[in-house]
Amino acid sequence: MEIINTVASLKEKVEKARKEGKTIGLVPTMGALHAGHRSLVERARKENDIVVVSVFVNPTQFNNQDDLKTYPRTEEADAEMLRDCGVDYAFMPSVAEMYPEKDTRVFALGPVAEVMEGAMRPGHFNGVAQVVSKLFAMAQPTRAYFGEKDFQQIAVIRKMAELEGFTELEIVDCPIVREPDGLALSSRNVRLTPEGRKAAPNIRRVLVESLDEKARGMSPVEVKASVKAKIDAVDGLTTEYYEIVDALTMQPVATWAEAENGAVGCVTVYDGDVRLIDNIRY
Ligand code: PAF
Repeated sequence: MEIINTVASLKEKVEKARKEGKTIGLVPTMGALHAGHRSLVERARKENDIVVVSVFVNPTQFNNQDDLKTYPRTEEADAEMLRDCGVDYAFMPSVAEMYPEKDTRVFALGPVAEVMEGAMRPGHFNGVAQVVSKLFAMAQPTRAYFGEKDFQQIAVIRKMAELEGFTELEIVDCPIVREPDGLALSSRNVRLTPEGRKAAPNIRRVLVESLDEKARGMSPVEVKASVKAKIDAVDGLTTEYYEIVDALTMQPVATWAEAENGAVGCVTVYDGDVRLIDNIRY
């Protein structure tokens, strides 16, 4: 595996591979890699000739500067994991390399980006669109891999790809990887206190119980209220939002029938000061 720090060098490698007719799989990450990332990388490895993994904590998607400061950074361990997964190129640029000039682009992402994370974290999805559009242009991937834990992010990236004309590129969504007790893997989990870590699996427990509630005839509005109340009843957990939305449009639904593309419940919970997200398909 080669570690690449400059855009010019990345472009040179991928252009050569493209000319040779090779397929390129890109896995964009912000590092602090865990088994969830590993599953994306392994899938990219199986499906492509060349695998590029970017490790870049993107400042433009953080609307909270403390969150950016405390975001875990584990470059050496990341490189080791990527080497172990048989990655060809680990792209680890500096902020100046990715943003030689301030990125002032504003993407017309529309309704998919206006609800949930979009409403709670103003500017977040525009920042994601900025960095991912740069990565797509730099790495010229055949396929790009994203985890379904960030369910809404995938819809936003699909919208950005449509707006920017990345029509040839396949966006591959990959299932959430969980701890044995159900907690969705996240780079933020390392920041949980021992008590917080004990409380966290309740998020998944409550979401799974909500499948039964739907089966028993409860409406999305009733399920939403129940999920929120049950999570908030756990010591240390506070729900920021729980929405039941259409799986493609991300728009909240009042009835199950309204979710023409299937319904997904998306939750954000504060576990102490750690913000965790998860989701479930109904
Ligand atoms: O999901 C993430 O880790 C980030 O939002 C991404 C897609 C790598 C862009 O910085």
